[in-house]
Amino acid sequence: MSSTSGENTKLAKHESGGDGSIPYPHLLLLLRLSPDLDLPNCIIMGPMTRGRSRPNSMATVLMAEYYAQHTSASLIVSKGTFTSVVTQGWYRAPEIFLEEQSRSWKVVTDRVCEAGGRIACQLWHCRQVFHLSF
Ligand SMILES: Cc1cc2nc3c(=O)[nH]c(=O)nc-3n(C[C@H](O)[C@H](O)[C@H](O)COP(=O)(O)O)c2cc1C
Repeated sequence: MSSTSGENTKLAKHESGGDGSIPYPHLLLLLRLSPDLDLPNCIIMGPMTRGRSRPNSMATVLMAEYYAQHTSASLIVSKGTFTSVVTQGWYRAPEIFLEEQSRSWKVVTDRVCEAGGRIACQLWHCRQVFHLSF
């Protein structure tokens, strides 16, 4: 992923440690992801599925706290999330096709926004690779 120059050359605010030097300064540049979406830096948290959903595949308060703790990344990509029963294929991974599941995710997104972050949902489809035990 690269950052553009010109209007996007503003350095993101950060705290430097040690001698004050910044090892990878380009990572702290503003990133224009799309015409409507500027990110304050180029550090994006990759998706990490941790099996933390309740048995009914809802998003949880633990997930909300976990993501809120990582809002120094300019964008968080969520754990794999299933869009229907037939796409499910990972133990305790969340879903987002029932009304109650969407509401449980709203708690997560509200918490992340309160903490000043941004989060995108990683949609998963495991149909061809899932194990019967899931
Ligand atoms: C615990 C854990 C869970 C992960 N879950 C996902 C996932 O749900 N979806 C995905 O695309 N990548 C997942 N990954 C991969 C990471 O997002 C990331 O791409 C990878 O760790 C990058 O480093 P690598 O390419 O050197 O492995 C996971 C990685 C870890 C360590």
